[in-house]
Amino acid sequence: MKLGVFDSGIGGLTVVKSLLEHQLFEQIIYYGDTARVPYGSKDKNTIIRYAIEAVEIFKNFDLDMIVVACNTVSAYALQEMQESASCPVVGVVEAGVLACANNLHDKNTNILVLGTKATVNSKAYDKGLKQLGFGNITTLATPLFVPIVEEELYPSAVLDEAMQHYFCSIQKPDALILGCTHFPLIANELQNYFGSDVKLIHSGDAIVEYLSQKFDFTQKHSTPKLQFFASENPDALKSVAHKWLGL
Ligand code: DGL
Repeated sequence: MKLGVFDSGIGGLTVVKSLLEHQLFEQIIYYGDTARVPYGSKDKNTIIRYAIEAVEIFKNFDLDMIVVACNTVSAYALQEMQESASCPVVGVVEAGVLACANNLHDKNTNILVLGTKATVNSKAYDKGLKQLGFGNITTLATPLFVPIVEEELYPSAVLDEAMQHYFCSIQKPDALILGCTHFPLIANELQNYFGSDVKLIHSGDAIVEYLSQKFDFTQKHSTPKLQFFASENPDALKSVAHKWLGL
C-alpha cells in the first residue's frame, strides 16, 4: 500500500507518526504546502483550490490512498479531492468524529473541539458529531497554538498565557478534540490544564482507528519507505520530520 499524506505544512507529521507506529503502509509520500501555510486563516475557495492542486501533485505517484492530515482541508475540501483523485481520499475530521463514536459512550458528553478559524467556521465537526447524536459540543478557534508549536514553545509561559486567554471562560469539557495537526504536540500541556480525566481525541490515532475499521490491512510494514516533499524549503520539512518522527 502506497499512501500520500497531505498537509498545509509540517503539522501533518503528527499524523505520519501515528501511521508509522501502526505500520499500516509500505510507502508514505508526504506533501506539505509550506509555501502557502497557514490554511487556517484562508477562505473556503482558496483551500479547495490548493487541495485540488495537491491531488494533481500526488497523481505523479500512483498512490493507493491519500490521507488528508490537515483538519482545515478535511473540513472544506475532502469531497472535491475525492472527486479529482483516482484513489480513496480520507480526512481527519471524519476520523475524529468516528473516534468520538467509538470512545465516548454518553451522547451528552461535553465535547470541546479546538481548531483553526477555518475549521471552526466550517462547522464540520459540529455537523458530524450532531449526526451521530452528540448534542453538547463547543468549538473554539485557537490559532495561536500553531506558531507556539512551530516555535517549539512547549511547555512555556507563552503557552500558559495562550491557554488562559482561550479557556478562561470555557467550561471544563469531558472530551477534547485536537482538531488541528499541531495540537498533539501540546497534548500534555492541554491535559494538564484541563485535568487527567478529560479524554483527548488525536487526529493521528483517530485516522489509524478509522483506516483499520474501514479498510482491510492484513500486512504490517515495519520499515516503510518515506519521502518528503514541500512547496517551499523541503530541507526544513525534512529536518522537522527527522526530529518529530525520530528518524
Ligand atoms: N494543518 C492545519 C490544520 O490542521 C493547521 C495549520 C494551518 O493553518 O495551515 O488545520
